[in-house]
Amino acid sequence: MKNPAYKHLIPKPVRVAEGEGVFSLTPSTRISVQAGQPGALQAGQYLADLLRSLTGLALPVEENVQAVEPGCICFTSQGASSAGGEEGYLLEVAQQQVVFRAQSFSGYFYGCQTFRQLLPAAQGPWQIPAVRIQDYPRFAWRGVMLDVARSFFPPAEVKRLIDLFASYKLNRLHLHLSDDQGWRIMINSWPKLALHGGSGAVEGGRSGYYSQEEFRDLAAYAHSRGMLVVPEIDMPGHTTAALASYPELNRGGAAPQLYTGRKVGFSTLAAELEITYQFVADVLGELAQLTPGPYLHVGGDEAHSTTAEEYRLFLERVHAIVAGTGKRLIGWDEIIQAGLQPTDLVQIWRKDTQPREAVRQGAQVIMSPCQHAYLDMKYTPETELGQDWAAIIEVKDAYLWDPVTVYPGIKEADIAGVEAPLWTETIYTLRAAEYMYFPRLLGIAEMGWSPREGRSWEEYRLRLAAHGPRLAAQNVHFYHSPQVPWQEG
Ligand code: ACM
Repeated sequence: MKNPAYKHLIPKPVRVAEGEGVFSLTPSTRISVQAGQPGALQAGQYLADLLRSLTGLALPVEENVQAVEPGCICFTSQGASSAGGEEGYLLEVAQQQVVFRAQSFSGYFYGCQTFRQLLPAAQGPWQIPAVRIQDYPRFAWRGVMLDVARSFFPPAEVKRLIDLFASYKLNRLHLHLSDDQGWRIMINSWPKLALHGGSGAVEGGRSGYYSQEEFRDLAAYAHSRGMLVVPEIDMPGHTTAALASYPELNRGGAAPQLYTGRKVGFSTLAAELEITYQFVADVLGELAQLTPGPYLHVGGDEAHSTTAEEYRLFLERVHAIVAGTGKRLIGWDEIIQAGLQPTDLVQIWRKDTQPREAVRQGAQVIMSPCQHAYLDMKYTPETELGQDWAAIIEVKDAYLWDPVTVYPGIKEADIAGVEAPLWTETIYTLRAAEYMYFPRLLGIAEMGWSPREGRSWEEYRLRLAAHGPRLAAQNVHFYHSPQVPWQEG
């Protein structure tokens, strides 16, 4: 087969070895899952659903098959290498059968994503040249953020994005749930946050909020795609929506109006008021219950109306509250100045920040340097959507950086991973969000997953070119960068 799809995989796998012959999906192909293998049945059913809707084939799923047999797509933990960890997989495509070997659902799931990319984008024949792929991630944290506070994104749209994100092996969905312009999660003990705060949005954006049931459902859906939801309540700044909902949270007891502008840094919770901590404990307590993952993101950025002393006091109390929920605290890099716990994760975003100071205090960092990873930045000065205060970020700029060298004094082991945020001051629809994420997010996904060695823009842009028809087949509205020699469908 000319130019086989295994040459275009994104993220690039750790090891690829060509085999002999071609595997074909046919009306008699079955999916077989070996007995007692953790995650195998769930992954087998996931792949069956995915391939049925693509090919129209029956693809029955058989449980408790004892051996790898010709004509089957088999899921087994036998022969899975422990080197790759929970998320690693071995995928063997041979003329007679396909075998996924992994230790957990996420390993199988990532094998399935690779398998999907080995098949044609939209049309049969459904054939794959024989190949053996051994693969595992570089970083544990491969994140993407969606700001649902400036402009709300309803659950069905978030689920579509989750499917797209997971197909590139991203595993953290950070939801920025509150800001000056809106509050997006129902908190039963403080219902006006959602009922009043949720009625706001940035000018031009959408209002709304997730009920607790919707949020649980979103988190469960993400989990079924190998992604953990990381909820963020931004504090003590970026809090007008909360302050507008409850007068008693304000110094002087008067609530401000809801805010629809784009400025930052003017709001703050009152660090000296005890009710502030009752509010934080109630909100984080409910959010911890709603969230299956082990993280709570507490923001902490751009608190320009909070004095340094108030900020330290506030973060000290918040640290204790988060610890009481049993979760790990994450904050934007400003929290470094307040003093860290070794279990904290610090999300590095500012150009001139010092991640090594976080590391010195024992924390790990998540790399989201705004000049490379902020996907709300314009692609070119002419891009209609987005902002430009951090940088102009073409596809190449989002790909060609390294989390270890982007700031001084950091080692690979200090880094939990990478994350690409999408802020939505100018992004009000799913279509607009897709345009900003895609295709830049594929480069960030590759940075999180693939080995550091041998990264090359010239090689990557050719692989990326093959994903144009794939994104188009899924009706993704993406930016056709002139830096990429896009393949025709
Ligand atoms: C941020 O961009 N304010 C984290």
